[in-house]
Amino acid sequence: MTKRRKITLSVVMIAPLLVLTYVAFNGWHLIPQPFITYGGKGSMADTSVAGSQYRQYCAGCHGNDMKTFVNHEWKFGKTRSAVFKAIKYGYPVTGMPAYDVTFSDKETYNLTDYLLKGIAVTAAAPVEATKGPGVFQTDLLKIKIDTVARAGKIPWCVGFLPDGDLLVTERGGDLYRIGMDRKLQKISGVPQVMAKGQGGLFDILPHPDFSSNQLVYISYSKAESGNTGKSTTAVMRAKLEGTALSEQRDIFVARPYRNTEHHYGGRMLFDKNGYLFISVGERGNENKSSQSISNDLGKIHRIKEDGSIPEDNPFVSTKEASPSIFSYGHRNPQGLSVHPVTGAVWENEHGPMGGDEINLIVAGKNYGWPEITYGINYNGTPVTDKTSLPGMEQPLHFWVPSIAPSGLAFVQGDKYKGWEGNVLSGSLKFRWLSRCKTDGNIVSAEESMLKEIGRMRDVRVSPDGYIYVTVEDPGYVLKLLPVYE
Ligand code: HEC
Repeated sequence: MTKRRKITLSVVMIAPLLVLTYVAFNGWHLIPQPFITYGGKGSMADTSVAGSQYRQYCAGCHGNDMKTFVNHEWKFGKTRSAVFKAIKYGYPVTGMPAYDVTFSDKETYNLTDYLLKGIAVTAAAPVEATKGPGVFQTDLLKIKIDTVARAGKIPWCVGFLPDGDLLVTERGGDLYRIGMDRKLQKISGVPQVMAKGQGGLFDILPHPDFSSNQLVYISYSKAESGNTGKSTTAVMRAKLEGTALSEQRDIFVARPYRNTEHHYGGRMLFDKNGYLFISVGERGNENKSSQSISNDLGKIHRIKEDGSIPEDNPFVSTKEASPSIFSYGHRNPQGLSVHPVTGAVWENEHGPMGGDEINLIVAGKNYGWPEITYGINYNGTPVTDKTSLPGMEQPLHFWVPSIAPSGLAFVQGDKYKGWEGNVLSGSLKFRWLSRCKTDGNIVSAEESMLKEIGRMRDVRVSPDGYIYVTVEDPGYVLKLLPVYE
């Protein structure tokens, strides 16, 4: 072989390698692109336009690390043009907003490329462990995390039985009982759920008199009969003996059913008078259900333990009104808790982009969505220019930017020195626990605690005064132990 032929051969062999290396780092662009890192944790500071757009407009729902797209069943497909279309035109049924008014096509393509690269990085990264056992220093207390159980993907709610056992729902449709040995035992007889989008199994709430009647209440997304594809928020009452449910009966079904797959609400509580409160979301931000009292969406409802309507509900004698409505003008309420001193019902709810709220729920009041809000639409356009109007309630507290609150609980008892009476909200978005100091009905200060513990779905205080939280993906039930030295 001549020297010349040898050189030609090696060029032929090396050239494709060089091209592939170039493409791996640069994508199929002719001009070298700035080396883009995605906005995940621990990555280099990302100053690209697409990166900051992603963090501003998308990360709230899809996570900084784009984890929602890994192992995702792509509705439109994972091609560049399909992702471009998804971003541009959105998908209102699932709650994916349209960004055609926000970005130029060029920006949308850049965002698409940024997204596809980021997903590949996250998919290749090792599964991020939830912090699990560990110690967190907060302003006032040192908190040790006790891992009670590993529980599926999305443990939505934790409930407490009088014998000390825990009940945990997994949004996909399973209900578990956790005994002293901390093993998960699956409970039979749960309702059939429509586990699409944000739908599934929601709250589990034992009757205040569970010891004598064994009744539990389960909220869930119920499919409309006849395969219409529509669903709604419903509450089933059943008897729980050991790990079996019986005598199941739906005692509440929100009307109307809708074809959207998000904003179900689904939180429940018993107040001090034994009334059952149920939160129902507005099922999609494009509709105005919340302001009309002739439907059940975007409302807090109050019913009796058997599903019947209390005679003194605010709209029982209003013609055309749905009689279970207690308050209206809500968006997507994801936390309910009774104030330990006043007995009032407090609620938290998701605003759009910004404008998440904590509200004090009063019979017959209008909480304003979407006529007033401190947030704006996901695509950056205004919902309204008003943050207040006569006849509409102001929140006790609001979050801009949104924290995506989930779960709400007052600290009761003296287990946590200095936190007594404070109100806790989990944050899905920022993966922390918010502690709001309250002075009567005034929220006077806030601390974000347990940073990066995981997407926090629920926070509850057990009858013996311990705080329990659930985090997602992987799902854990965690107990917060104060450490005093
Ligand atoms: C309010 C929450 C929310 C925001 C904000 C949001 N998305 Fe989505 N997005 C969703 C939901 C919900 C889906 C549907 C997920 C599913 O079906 O599993 C979705 C779906 C998608 C899909 C389609 C996936 C498929 O299955 O084909 C893409 C791509 C996407 N989002 C990108 C973005 C980008 C980029 C942004 C920011 C510009 C963004 N999203 C902002 C909620 C959101």
